[in-house]
Amino acid sequence: MPQAHSLKAFNTFGVDASCDQLFRFHHERDIQDWLAGMPIPVDKFFVLGGGSNLLLLGHIPLTFLQPDIQGIEYEERGEEVIVTAGAGVNWHELVMDTLDKGYCGLENLSLIPGNVGAAPIQNIGAYGVELEQRFVALHAVDLFSGEKKIFRHGDCQFGYRDSIFKRELRGRYIITRVQLRLNKKPQLVLTYGPLKALADSADKLTAKDVSDEVIRIRQSKLPDPQELGNAGSFFKNPIVSHEQYLKLKEAHPKIAAYPMNNASVKLAAGWLIDQAGLKGYRQGDAGVHQQQALVLVNHGKAAGKDILNLAAYVRDTVKAKFGVELEPEVWIIGQQQVFQ
Ligand code: EPU
Repeated sequence: MPQAHSLKAFNTFGVDASCDQLFRFHHERDIQDWLAGMPIPVDKFFVLGGGSNLLLLGHIPLTFLQPDIQGIEYEERGEEVIVTAGAGVNWHELVMDTLDKGYCGLENLSLIPGNVGAAPIQNIGAYGVELEQRFVALHAVDLFSGEKKIFRHGDCQFGYRDSIFKRELRGRYIITRVQLRLNKKPQLVLTYGPLKALADSADKLTAKDVSDEVIRIRQSKLPDPQELGNAGSFFKNPIVSHEQYLKLKEAHPKIAAYPMNNASVKLAAGWLIDQAGLKGYRQGDAGVHQQQALVLVNHGKAAGKDILNLAAYVRDTVKAKFGVELEPEVWIIGQQQVFQ
């Protein structure tokens, strides 16, 4: 029986958890060599990124693999620039590097925690931009065969906080590099709520200005995981039918929502949790954040299961009040029956 490896420093909730073993890789080749000599079945692996979108429950009897591949390279193609970044590059450092070079495209995604390799898995998004709008391709290693494979946009089946890597190909590949498309001239996206105020002066703004504003907004309501353990939004914003939305709006005229198309509407889960009276609510050290109710936090000594129990309570309370079912956005890893 291998000795357990602590994962406390590898998850931004800061919960005490462990796995059988943890291996970090600096080169694609090392992963392939390691897999070639390793008879562990593929379902015994878990690929770890920056640990910023995970809730870990106790001891997880798996081997964790972390691609710590660094490097950022640029290739100019006319008005566009393709950036290729290693899976282990910190996402925000990549965004800052592209902006320092004067390239535009990732500014709305500033300050999202986590590493580059995890970004396509859940199609990270914020302030009106999703990764898929900038995505060109990714390189990965197949954990079954050890072979390299390239996934282009159409192969990834991106959706709202979703991709094929969360579904059919869950746990099958280790992403090693990601390629994104940037622009030399700004094409600013200022359509999302708090950024709309900048739209009037759009022609005077740089991508860096937009990034500064996104950072300011995020810092004003999202807790810094270094200070208060959390994994960003705990739940997805639920998508309901237009009909259900109209009924909810009748009963709750101020409901916060974003129309998606004629048939469906995305509701702000943070608003629902807030209006259910749960902002700042605590069960021991597991809490609902005081500034942004969609974020669950670890006030100190909460275990993964304490946060899970709180999440179930939040889900049930929102369901009872609004009839809307919240689904977790974070990946819950370890034995649990609360969410499927
Ligand atoms: N709201 C409240 N009370 C709250 C929280 C929110 O009334 O406690 C209301 C806000 O006033 C606003 C609406 O709900 O009208 C939406 O809130 P916000 O703009 O803060 O965004 P969100 O829908 O809660 C989503 C993403 C965030 C992303 C922001 C900005 C999801 C699950 N979350 O949050 O992503 O940063 O938009 O684009 O889609 C993450 O994925 O981890 C994450 C933080």
